[in-house]
Amino acid sequence: MEPIVRIDGVTKRYRLGKQNYVDVLRGASLEVAPGEMVAIMGPSGSGKSTLMHIAGCLDTPDAGEVWLSGRRVDGLRGRELARLRGREVGFIFQGFNLVPIMSALENVALAAEYAGASRKSASVVAHALLEEVGLGDRVRHLPSELSGGQQQRVAIARALVNGPSIVMGDEPTGDLDTATSDDIVALMRDADRANKTTFIIVTHNPEVARACDRTVRMRDGVVDGQVTAAA
Ligand SMILES: Nc1ncnc2c1ncn2[C@@H]1O[C@H](COP(=O)(O)OP(=O)(O)OP(=O)(O)O)[C@@H](O)[C@H]1O
Ligand SMILES: [Mg+2]
Repeated sequence: MEPIVRIDGVTKRYRLGKQNYVDVLRGASLEVAPGEMVAIMGPSGSGKSTLMHIAGCLDTPDAGEVWLSGRRVDGLRGRELARLRGREVGFIFQGFNLVPIMSALENVALAAEYAGASRKSASVVAHALLEEVGLGDRVRHLPSELSGGQQQRVAIARALVNGPSIVMGDEPTGDLDTATSDDIVALMRDADRANKTTFIIVTHNPEVARACDRTVRMRDGVVDGQVTAAA
């Protein structure tokens, strides 16, 4: 099967002033199959977030190829990149990143409206997704009126609202206690199975990685080794 994400020999250098630079990615390669749930582990600073941002069209590489859903994307910039990102990718972050003055429903619906849905249909689909993540009775709550785990459920609903082919999580359970983290991973697993969504999850937590189909390790800007989870 053709991979849904193919990263081939990607490099990325950040300049820090005129003389200094840091080579964050030094020829990283990774393939992810449709519907797969992959964990990325590795030391702090090894390039995990950078690789994820490039795979998710939030950032562009200096060299190497990036393919998403059969389309080469490393040459895309600006609007074209943003459009593809909006259609194909959902993001879940460690700090939830919800809009504090908007209800759970509004937070999810807003993402659908950004992608072109009418206010009415955005609200309907947002409501359905919040039901799906177990927050049907919390749709009017503000983020500050929700627990961390509940806020992350809202963020998952938001990531899924436009039916992305791939969801990227950057330490999505990093701010959660163990039991809540388990719930959130189970929820992502369910979404993965139900919608055939592909998940790439950066994590420092071996428990989270164990719940994934496969773990890849990054070291010094390359994908170092691949471990397939025991069945
Ligand atoms: N915009 C930037 N400008 C300069 N350097 C950057 C930038 N973004 C990241 N870096 C550097 O690139 C390296 C890799 O960063 P990255 O965020 O990808 O690491 P990471 O593996 O996600 O680490 P962590 O586990 O701590 O989140 C780090 O040394 C970081 O300082
Ligand atoms: Mg990171």
